Amino acid sequence: MRSPAALTTAIEPDMGEAAWPDHEYVRGWGVFGLPFDSGHVLALRVFPQSSFGPYRTLWHRDPEGRWSIHADARRVEHACPRYYGPACDNVAAARIDLEWTGPRTLHVTLDQPALDWTVSAERSLLMGFLNPLSAAMPLFSWRLPALVRGRERLAQALGMGRLQMSGTMPSGHHGLLMPQRMYLVSQSSAALDGVDLGRPSRPRENPTIGGVPLPARGVLAIGQAMWRISDPDEFDSARRQAKGQQREERVMTDGRTLDRSDLESRVKLMYEQVALAPEAPFHFETGRGLAERLGYPVADLDAVPAPAIDSFAGVGYFLDLAEIGPGARVLDLGSGSGMDSFLAANASGPTGSVIGVDMTTAQLAKASGLADAAGFDQIEFREGYIEDVPVEDGTVDCVISNGVINLSPDKPAVFRAAAAALRPGGRLAIADIVSARQLPQGVTCDASLWAACIGGAAQRDEYLGAIRDAGFEVVVVRDNDYRFISDRALGATTAYGVTSVSVLATKR
Ligand SMILES: C[S@@+](CC[C@H](N)C(=O)[O-])C[C@H]1O[C@@H](n2cnc3c(N)ncnc32)[C@H](O)[C@@H]1O
Repeated sequence: MRSPAALTTAIEPDMGEAAWPDHEYVRGWGVFGLPFDSGHVLALRVFPQSSFGPYRTLWHRDPEGRWSIHADARRVEHACPRYYGPACDNVAAARIDLEWTGPRTLHVTLDQPALDWTVSAERSLLMGFLNPLSAAMPLFSWRLPALVRGRERLAQALGMGRLQMSGTMPSGHHGLLMPQRMYLVSQSSAALDGVDLGRPSRPRENPTIGGVPLPARGVLAIGQAMWRISDPDEFDSARRQAKGQQREERVMTDGRTLDRSDLESRVKLMYEQVALAPEAPFHFETGRGLAERLGYPVADLDAVPAPAIDSFAGVGYFLDLAEIGPGARVLDLGSGSGMDSFLAANASGPTGSVIGVDMTTAQLAKASGLADAAGFDQIEFREGYIEDVPVEDGTVDCVISNGVINLSPDKPAVFRAAAAALRPGGRLAIADIVSARQLPQGVTCDASLWAACIGGAAQRDEYLGAIRDAGFEVVVVRDNDYRFISDRALGATTAYGVTSVSVLATKR
């Protein structure tokens, strides 16, 4: 059974179209509603997909009944305030950060007002039975009033009070809220502007927003909602605005268009999942089987914490080229859950040191936790970007990296940063994905193929040229036996000769 963390992070961002004609839609997940014993109510909506593009909103009702909706969206009026704004005292733009700190535990922060909120979903046999059934029901079942009423009655039996899954929003839009999987909240704590909101409660009456009831107990839900388009001209103009804005936000890189912030969040989401749920299906292989096939010596792997190997998502073996000896100072760019960093630490011994740099919190947390538990005192995992590494210039003997640089939209900056960190004569030993031919825009602008280590692959000669331009001499280039696994990934890789290489270069 896949966890809420795995299911929610797998929803790909899109500005698509509703499944039903004449409707607008959102698809994603959130905390449907969570009442606290202090009288406050919180809710969260995370819609990677909607008619107007991805957005997140944080809803708050104070004990006096005043609602605020804070939206992390290109335009606040295209997010939940479109439907619930008329019932709010306050609607504002805000930054909302989310992190799954476990398969069922979510940490949410809001910048203004300052909210720090943790919510955990219960593991329950009943929901484990009902959710797959509910998710398997076809979408048209939501058009049958008797089935919608049946679902409302089931929600009531589960303690959620009188929910209405179809109805009219405060904005006048008429629609259907279609939670397909629900998880009861088992624990939550929240502080709003430093004030503790108390404990989750189960009030007798459902909290409501503009007459629309929210659950009378904490519920995390995954699903979608659709509303009949009430004014087609207004809808067309809002969608044109949203599309225009999306185009403006794309930046040009090497003549190719790409939305960098969207890309960064996709890469983080994908590798957060690699850290937390390495057994989930990806476009690429992970784990010990992959490491052994790529040529990692079995005895070396046996001397590394096994969970780091489970989350290994590299693309080649290159540590023989790195020639890390006792006392070496090593920098691992995009260290992930740390497998190569642990191997480098074993090679450099107690007098050596390893710094692993990564931008994904869950990867860093996993690698650091494993290093602490296994007593690898000579490794430090630092949060940072590989384009601007947080290490002092000229202090490193060897830079290693596995399956990472292809993910960067600015590869020359990564090689310059590696050269700056190295002492003269220092070694750059890496494995990465390159392509025989320049990839077309359909592939480079597909952020999910990029996050899967395909879309960002540079043409092989250009890649090696960027290494030389940064001040390296390229000494070895070796092809690896690496294969992508999903059909989509395989199609792109065969068409454009996407392969893995291990490279050794020395700093001039
Ligand atoms: C394919 S995984 C490889 C991880 C690790 N090297 C391994 O072999 O398992 C890519 C890693 O690079 C990190 N990453 C990608 N782009 C990055 C960037 N620009 N700065 C820092 N880390 C980045 C991701 O967070 C992820 O952990």
